[in-house]
Amino acid sequence: MSRAIQIHQFGGPEVLRCVEVEVGPPGPAEVRIRHEAIGVNFIDVYQRTGLYPNALPLTLGMEGAGVVEAVGDDVMHLSIGDRVAYASQPPGSYSEVRVMPARCVVRLPDAIDMDTGAAMMLKGLTVQYLLRRTQPQGGLQPGDFVLFHAAAGGVGLIACQWARAMGLQLIGTAGNEAKCQLALQHGAAHVINYRTEDFAKRVREITGGRGVKVVYDSIGQSTFEGSLDSLQPLGLMVSFGNASGPVPPVNLGLLAAKGSLHLTRPTLFTHLSSRESTQEMADDLFDMVGQGLVSIPIGQRYALEQVAQAHRDLEARVTTGCSILTV
Ligand SMILES: NC(=O)c1ccc[n+]([C@@H]2O[C@H](COP(=O)([O-])OP(=O)(O)OC[C@H]3O[C@@H](n4cnc5c(N)ncnc54)[C@H](OP(=O)(O)O)[C@@H]3O)[C@@H](O)[C@H]2O)c1
Repeated sequence: MSRAIQIHQFGGPEVLRCVEVEVGPPGPAEVRIRHEAIGVNFIDVYQRTGLYPNALPLTLGMEGAGVVEAVGDDVMHLSIGDRVAYASQPPGSYSEVRVMPARCVVRLPDAIDMDTGAAMMLKGLTVQYLLRRTQPQGGLQPGDFVLFHAAAGGVGLIACQWARAMGLQLIGTAGNEAKCQLALQHGAAHVINYRTEDFAKRVREITGGRGVKVVYDSIGQSTFEGSLDSLQPLGLMVSFGNASGPVPPVNLGLLAAKGSLHLTRPTLFTHLSSRESTQEMADDLFDMVGQGLVSIPIGQRYALEQVAQAHRDLEARVTTGCSILTV
Protein backbone atom coordinates (compact mmCIF):
# COMPACT_ATOMS: atom_id res chain seq x y z
CA MET A 1 0.00 0.00 0.00
CA SER A 2 1.09 3.59 -0.61
CA ARG A 3 -0.21 6.98 0.44
CA ALA A 4 -1.17 9.05 -2.60
CA ILE A 5 -2.77 12.42 -3.26
CA GLN A 6 -5.77 12.04 -5.53
CA ILE A 7 -8.60 14.13 -6.91
CA HIS A 8 -12.06 12.64 -7.49
CA GLN A 9 -13.43 15.86 -9.00
CA PHE A 10 -11.89 18.98 -10.52
CA GLY A 11 -11.77 22.09 -8.34
CA GLY A 12 -9.79 24.13 -5.81
CA PRO A 13 -7.10 22.84 -3.42
CA GLU A 14 -9.90 21.38 -1.24
CA VAL A 15 -10.42 18.53 -3.73
CA LEU A 16 -6.95 17.10 -2.95
CA ARG A 17 -7.35 13.94 -0.85
CA CYS A 18 -4.77 11.73 0.82
CA VAL A 19 -5.75 8.09 0.15
CA GLU A 20 -4.20 4.62 0.43
CA VAL A 21 -3.67 2.86 -2.89
CA GLU A 22 -2.38 -0.58 -3.75
CA VAL A 23 0.70 -0.58 -5.98
CA GLY A 24 1.37 -3.73 -8.01
CA PRO A 25 4.50 -4.95 -9.77
CA PRO A 26 5.78 -3.10 -12.86
CA GLY A 27 4.66 -4.41 -16.25
CA PRO A 28 6.88 -4.62 -19.35
CA ALA A 29 8.89 -1.40 -19.90
CA GLU A 30 7.87 -0.10 -16.45
CA VAL A 31 9.59 0.45 -13.10
CA ARG A 32 8.31 0.82 -9.54
CA ILE A 33 9.81 3.78 -7.69
CA ARG A 34 9.75 4.60 -3.97
CA HIS A 35 9.80 8.40 -3.85
CA GLU A 36 11.98 10.37 -1.47
CA ALA A 37 10.87 13.78 -2.76
CA ILE A 38 8.26 15.06 -5.20
CA GLY A 39 8.25 18.21 -7.32
CA VAL A 40 5.25 20.57 -7.31
CA ASN A 41 4.54 22.34 -10.60
CA PHE A 42 2.00 24.76 -11.97
CA ILE A 43 0.82 22.04 -14.36
CA ASP A 44 -0.47 20.18 -11.28
CA VAL A 45 -2.81 23.13 -10.67
CA TYR A 46 -4.07 23.01 -14.29
CA GLN A 47 -4.73 19.28 -13.88
CA ARG A 48 -6.45 19.80 -10.51
CA THR A 49 -8.80 22.46 -11.92
CA GLY A 50 -9.49 20.48 -15.10
CA LEU A 51 -7.95 23.12 -17.42
CA TYR A 52 -5.83 20.18 -18.62
CA PRO A 53 -8.39 17.35 -18.37
CA ASN A 54 -7.56 13.79 -17.27
CA ALA A 55 -9.73 10.81 -16.33
CA LEU A 56 -10.78 10.69 -12.65
CA PRO A 57 -9.89 9.64 -10.04
CA LEU A 58 -6.39 10.96 -10.68
CA THR A 59 -3.19 10.85 -8.63
CA LEU A 60 -1.54 14.17 -9.44
CA GLY A 61 2.15 15.00 -9.87
CA MET A 62 4.56 14.98 -12.81
CA GLU A 63 7.99 15.09 -11.15
CA GLY A 64 9.83 13.07 -8.52
CA ALA A 65 13.01 11.42 -7.28
CA GLY A 66 13.49 8.15 -5.46
CA VAL A 67 14.85 4.63 -5.60
CA VAL A 68 13.94 1.88 -8.07
CA GLU A 69 12.24 -0.98 -6.18
CA ALA A 70 11.32 -3.26 -9.05
CA VAL A 71 12.03 -3.42 -12.78
CA GLY A 72 9.71 -4.82 -15.48
CA ASP A 73 10.73 -6.85 -18.53
CA ASP A 74 12.54 -5.04 -21.34
CA VAL A 75 13.96 -2.28 -19.14
CA MET A 76 17.67 -2.13 -19.94
CA HIS A 77 18.82 1.17 -18.48
CA LEU A 78 17.68 0.85 -14.85
CA SER A 79 18.27 -1.63 -12.02
CA ILE A 80 16.84 -2.22 -8.56
CA GLY A 81 18.44 0.20 -6.10
CA ASP A 82 19.21 2.94 -8.66
CA ARG A 83 18.69 6.53 -7.50
CA VAL A 84 16.47 8.07 -10.18
CA ALA A 85 14.45 11.15 -11.10
CA TYR A 86 11.92 12.06 -13.77
CA ALA A 87 9.55 14.58 -15.31
CA SER A 88 6.83 12.64 -16.96
CA GLN A 89 3.37 11.80 -18.14
CA PRO A 90 1.22 10.16 -16.87
CA PRO A 91 0.60 12.02 -13.60
CA GLY A 92 1.14 10.07 -10.38
CA SER A 93 4.20 11.39 -8.54
CA TYR A 94 2.20 12.67 -5.51
CA SER A 95 2.66 9.27 -3.86
CA GLU A 96 5.04 7.22 -1.76
CA VAL A 97 5.35 4.48 -4.37
CA ARG A 98 4.29 4.34 -8.01
CA VAL A 99 4.66 2.27 -11.18
CA MET A 100 5.49 4.22 -14.35
CA PRO A 101 7.03 3.94 -17.82
CA ALA A 102 10.80 3.47 -17.51
CA ARG A 103 11.42 5.46 -20.70
CA CYS A 104 11.02 8.76 -18.85
CA VAL A 105 13.19 7.85 -15.85
CA VAL A 106 16.91 8.66 -15.66
CA ARG A 107 19.59 7.82 -13.13
CA LEU A 108 20.46 10.71 -10.85
CA PRO A 109 24.18 11.59 -10.59
CA ASP A 110 25.60 10.77 -7.12
CA ALA A 111 26.40 14.43 -6.47
CA ILE A 112 22.74 15.47 -6.79
CA ASP A 113 20.60 14.90 -3.69
CA MET A 114 17.03 13.62 -3.89
CA ASP A 115 15.35 16.93 -3.00
CA THR A 116 17.25 18.67 -5.79
CA GLY A 117 16.50 15.79 -8.16
CA ALA A 118 12.77 16.09 -7.47
CA ALA A 119 12.82 19.87 -7.93
CA MET A 120 14.95 20.08 -11.06
CA MET A 121 13.58 17.67 -13.64
CA LEU A 122 10.36 19.20 -14.96
CA LYS A 123 11.52 22.77 -14.45
CA GLY A 124 15.14 22.26 -15.54
CA LEU A 125 14.28 20.22 -18.61
CA THR A 126 11.78 22.92 -19.55
CA VAL A 127 14.49 25.56 -19.43
CA GLN A 128 16.73 23.21 -21.43
CA TYR A 129 14.26 22.85 -24.29
CA LEU A 130 13.22 26.53 -24.19
CA LEU A 131 16.66 28.13 -24.27
CA ARG A 132 18.46 25.48 -26.34
CA ARG A 133 15.74 24.19 -28.66
CA THR A 134 13.11 26.94 -28.95
CA GLN A 135 15.10 29.77 -30.45
CA PRO A 136 14.21 32.60 -32.83
CA GLN A 137 15.16 32.57 -36.51
CA GLY A 138 18.97 32.83 -36.70
CA GLY A 139 19.40 31.41 -33.18
CA LEU A 140 20.51 33.16 -30.00
CA GLN A 141 23.96 34.71 -29.65
CA PRO A 142 25.76 36.02 -26.55
CA GLY A 143 24.56 39.55 -25.84
CA ASP A 144 21.05 38.96 -27.22
CA PHE A 145 18.10 40.18 -25.17
CA VAL A 146 15.38 37.69 -24.21
CA LEU A 147 12.28 38.40 -22.14
CA PHE A 148 11.33 35.77 -19.55
CA HIS A 149 8.17 36.18 -17.42
CA ALA A 150 7.83 34.94 -13.82
CA ALA A 151 11.61 35.07 -13.52
CA ALA A 152 11.60 34.37 -9.77
CA GLY A 153 9.50 31.20 -10.06
CA GLY A 154 10.60 27.58 -10.27
CA VAL A 155 11.26 27.61 -14.00
CA GLY A 156 12.24 31.29 -13.86
CA LEU A 157 15.20 31.16 -11.47
CA ILE A 158 16.70 28.26 -13.42
CA ALA A 159 16.19 30.20 -16.67
CA CYS A 160 17.96 33.29 -15.25
CA GLN A 161 21.06 31.24 -14.49
CA TRP A 162 21.01 29.23 -17.71
CA ALA A 163 20.61 32.38 -19.82
CA ARG A 164 23.55 34.00 -18.01
CA ALA A 165 25.66 30.92 -18.74
CA MET A 166 24.77 31.30 -22.45
CA GLY A 167 25.82 34.95 -22.36
CA LEU A 168 22.25 36.19 -22.93
CA GLN A 169 20.81 39.33 -21.41
CA LEU A 170 17.66 38.01 -19.79
CA ILE A 171 15.04 40.62 -18.95
CA GLY A 172 13.00 39.05 -16.18
CA THR A 173 9.56 40.07 -14.97
CA ALA A 174 8.26 39.36 -11.47
CA GLY A 175 5.36 40.37 -9.24
CA ASN A 176 7.14 42.29 -6.47
CA GLU A 177 10.44 43.98 -5.65
CA ALA A 178 11.83 41.12 -3.56
CA LYS A 179 11.20 38.70 -6.43
CA CYS A 180 12.88 41.13 -8.85
CA GLN A 181 15.96 41.21 -6.62
CA LEU A 182 16.01 37.41 -6.47
CA ALA A 183 15.92 37.19 -10.26
CA LEU A 184 18.83 39.64 -10.50
CA GLN A 185 20.83 37.60 -7.97
CA HIS A 186 20.28 34.52 -10.14
CA GLY A 187 21.55 36.11 -13.34
CA ALA A 188 18.82 38.26 -14.87
CA ALA A 189 20.48 41.27 -16.55
CA HIS A 190 17.39 43.48 -16.05
CA VAL A 191 14.16 43.08 -14.10
CA ILE A 192 10.70 44.60 -14.37
CA ASN A 193 7.95 44.51 -11.76
CA TYR A 194 5.09 43.83 -14.16
CA ARG A 195 2.47 44.55 -11.51
CA THR A 196 3.53 48.19 -11.29
CA GLU A 197 5.19 48.86 -14.66
CA ASP A 198 4.19 48.56 -18.32
CA PHE A 199 6.65 45.80 -19.15
CA ALA A 200 6.48 46.21 -22.96
CA LYS A 201 7.37 49.90 -22.62
CA ARG A 202 10.25 49.09 -20.26
CA VAL A 203 11.54 46.41 -22.64
CA ARG A 204 11.73 49.04 -25.41
CA GLU A 205 13.67 51.34 -23.09
CA ILE A 206 16.11 48.62 -22.00
CA THR A 207 16.74 47.46 -25.58
CA GLY A 208 17.17 50.96 -27.05
CA GLY A 209 13.83 50.73 -28.85
CA ARG A 210 14.62 47.48 -30.68
CA GLY A 211 12.68 44.92 -28.63
CA VAL A 212 13.76 41.36 -27.86
CA LYS A 213 14.35 38.45 -30.24
CA VAL A 214 12.27 36.06 -28.16
CA VAL A 215 9.74 36.14 -25.32
CA TYR A 216 9.22 33.11 -23.08
CA ASP A 217 5.70 33.66 -21.71
CA SER A 218 4.18 31.25 -19.16
CA ILE A 219 1.65 33.77 -17.82
CA GLY A 220 -0.76 33.56 -20.74
CA GLN A 221 -3.88 35.70 -20.79
CA SER A 222 -2.64 38.78 -18.90
CA THR A 223 0.72 39.15 -20.70
CA PHE A 224 0.10 37.86 -24.22
CA GLU A 225 -0.37 41.16 -26.02
CA GLY A 226 2.37 42.94 -24.08
CA SER A 227 4.71 40.11 -24.96
CA LEU A 228 3.99 40.51 -28.69
CA ASP A 229 4.63 44.26 -28.27
CA SER A 230 8.04 43.50 -26.75
CA LEU A 231 9.33 41.66 -29.83
CA GLN A 232 11.53 42.77 -32.72
CA PRO A 233 10.19 42.22 -36.24
CA LEU A 234 10.47 38.48 -37.05
CA GLY A 235 10.78 37.79 -33.32
CA LEU A 236 9.53 34.61 -31.65
CA MET A 237 6.70 34.45 -29.13
CA VAL A 238 6.95 31.26 -27.05
CA SER A 239 3.70 30.85 -25.14
CA PHE A 240 4.35 27.95 -22.76
CA GLY A 241 1.92 28.36 -19.87
CA ASN A 242 -1.27 29.90 -18.52
CA ALA A 243 -0.67 30.98 -14.91
CA SER A 244 -3.14 33.88 -15.37
CA GLY A 245 -5.52 31.88 -17.59
CA PRO A 246 -5.34 30.52 -21.13
CA VAL A 247 -4.66 32.82 -24.07
CA PRO A 248 -7.92 33.45 -25.95
CA PRO A 249 -8.10 32.49 -29.65
CA VAL A 250 -5.54 34.56 -31.54
CA ASN A 251 -6.21 36.75 -34.57
CA LEU A 252 -3.28 35.68 -36.75
CA GLY A 253 -3.36 39.05 -38.47
CA LEU A 254 -1.85 40.48 -35.27
CA LEU A 255 1.39 38.64 -36.03
CA ALA A 256 1.63 40.35 -39.41
CA ALA A 257 0.73 43.77 -38.04
CA LYS A 258 3.37 43.56 -35.31
CA GLY A 259 6.21 42.63 -37.69
CA SER A 260 5.86 39.12 -39.19
CA LEU A 261 6.18 37.52 -35.77
CA HIS A 262 6.55 33.81 -35.11
CA LEU A 263 4.36 32.11 -32.49
CA THR A 264 4.75 28.69 -30.91
CA ARG A 265 2.95 26.91 -28.07
CA PRO A 266 5.32 24.12 -26.99
CA THR A 267 5.18 21.50 -24.26
CA LEU A 268 8.03 19.68 -22.57
CA PHE A 269 6.39 16.34 -23.21
CA THR A 270 6.92 16.54 -26.98
CA HIS A 271 10.64 16.86 -26.29
CA LEU A 272 10.59 13.92 -23.86
CA SER A 273 8.82 11.60 -26.30
CA SER A 274 11.80 9.25 -26.71
CA ARG A 275 14.18 7.77 -24.18
CA GLU A 276 17.13 9.11 -26.21
CA SER A 277 15.98 12.73 -26.19
CA THR A 278 15.03 12.50 -22.50
CA GLN A 279 18.53 11.25 -21.63
CA GLU A 280 20.22 13.82 -23.88
CA MET A 281 18.30 16.70 -22.29
CA ALA A 282 18.84 15.35 -18.77
CA ASP A 283 22.59 14.99 -19.43
CA ASP A 284 22.73 18.64 -20.47
CA LEU A 285 20.84 19.68 -17.31
CA PHE A 286 23.04 17.52 -15.05
CA ASP A 287 26.10 18.99 -16.73
CA MET A 288 24.95 22.57 -16.14
CA VAL A 289 24.26 21.78 -12.50
CA GLY A 290 27.47 19.74 -12.11
CA GLN A 291 29.57 22.63 -13.47
CA GLY A 292 27.94 24.97 -10.96
CA LEU A 293 26.45 27.11 -13.74
CA VAL A 294 22.90 26.39 -12.57
CA SER A 295 21.74 25.77 -9.01
CA ILE A 296 18.25 24.58 -8.13
CA PRO A 297 16.76 26.93 -5.56
CA ILE A 298 14.16 25.16 -3.40
CA GLY A 299 12.08 27.93 -1.85
CA GLN A 300 9.40 25.79 -0.17
CA ARG A 301 9.17 22.31 1.36
CA TYR A 302 5.89 20.67 2.46
CA ALA A 303 5.00 17.23 3.79
CA LEU A 304 3.04 15.14 1.27
CA GLU A 305 -0.21 15.60 3.20
CA GLN A 306 0.28 19.41 3.19
CA VAL A 307 -0.02 19.48 -0.60
CA ALA A 308 -3.16 21.68 -0.54
CA GLN A 309 -1.11 24.42 1.13
CA ALA A 310 1.57 24.04 -1.55
CA HIS A 311 -1.08 24.60 -4.24
CA ARG A 312 -2.58 27.58 -2.39
CA ASP A 313 0.84 29.21 -2.11
CA LEU A 314 1.69 28.61 -5.76
CA GLU A 315 -1.60 30.09 -6.96
CA ALA A 316 -1.34 33.04 -4.54
CA ARG A 317 2.06 33.96 -6.08
CA VAL A 318 3.82 33.78 -2.70
CA THR A 319 6.40 31.13 -3.68
CA THR A 320 9.85 31.66 -5.15
CA GLY A 321 12.01 29.05 -6.87
CA CYS A 322 10.93 25.41 -6.66
CA SER A 323 8.48 23.75 -4.25
CA ILE A 324 8.80 20.11 -3.20
CA LEU A 325 6.84 17.59 -1.15
CA THR A 326 8.72 15.29 1.19
CA VAL A 327 7.64 11.71 1.99
N1 LIG B 1 4.84 24.18 -21.62
C1 LIG B 1 5.75 23.61 -20.88
O1 LIG B 1 6.50 22.76 -21.36
C2 LIG B 1 5.89 23.98 -19.44
C3 LIG B 1 6.73 23.22 -18.62
C4 LIG B 1 6.92 23.66 -17.29
C5 LIG B 1 6.27 24.79 -16.83
N2 LIG B 1 5.44 25.46 -17.65
C6 LIG B 1 4.75 26.66 -17.20
O2 LIG B 1 5.72 27.54 -16.68
C7 LIG B 1 5.15 28.33 -15.67
C8 LIG B 1 6.02 28.31 -14.45
O3 LIG B 1 5.87 27.06 -13.80
P1 LIG B 1 6.39 26.86 -12.32
O4 LIG B 1 5.87 25.54 -11.88
O5 LIG B 1 7.85 27.15 -12.26
O6 LIG B 1 5.57 27.98 -11.52
P2 LIG B 1 6.14 29.33 -10.85
O7 LIG B 1 6.75 30.17 -11.92
O8 LIG B 1 6.95 28.99 -9.68
O9 LIG B 1 4.79 29.99 -10.35
C9 LIG B 1 3.99 30.70 -11.24
C10 LIG B 1 4.29 32.20 -11.18
O10 LIG B 1 3.53 32.84 -12.19
C11 LIG B 1 3.36 34.18 -11.82
N3 LIG B 1 1.98 34.62 -12.07
C12 LIG B 1 1.62 35.67 -12.80
N4 LIG B 1 0.30 35.80 -12.84
C13 LIG B 1 -0.20 34.82 -12.07
C14 LIG B 1 -1.53 34.47 -11.68
N5 LIG B 1 -2.61 35.14 -12.12
N6 LIG B 1 -1.70 33.41 -10.85
C15 LIG B 1 -0.64 32.72 -10.40
N7 LIG B 1 0.65 33.01 -10.75
C16 LIG B 1 0.87 34.06 -11.58
C17 LIG B 1 3.72 34.30 -10.33
O11 LIG B 1 4.98 34.98 -10.23
P3 LIG B 1 4.99 36.59 -10.05
O12 LIG B 1 4.29 36.86 -8.75
O13 LIG B 1 6.41 36.93 -10.05
O14 LIG B 1 4.22 37.13 -11.22
C18 LIG B 1 3.87 32.87 -9.89
O15 LIG B 1 4.81 32.74 -8.85
C19 LIG B 1 3.73 27.82 -15.46
O16 LIG B 1 2.82 28.61 -16.21
C20 LIG B 1 3.81 26.43 -16.05
O17 LIG B 1 2.58 25.94 -16.48
C21 LIG B 1 5.23 25.07 -18.94
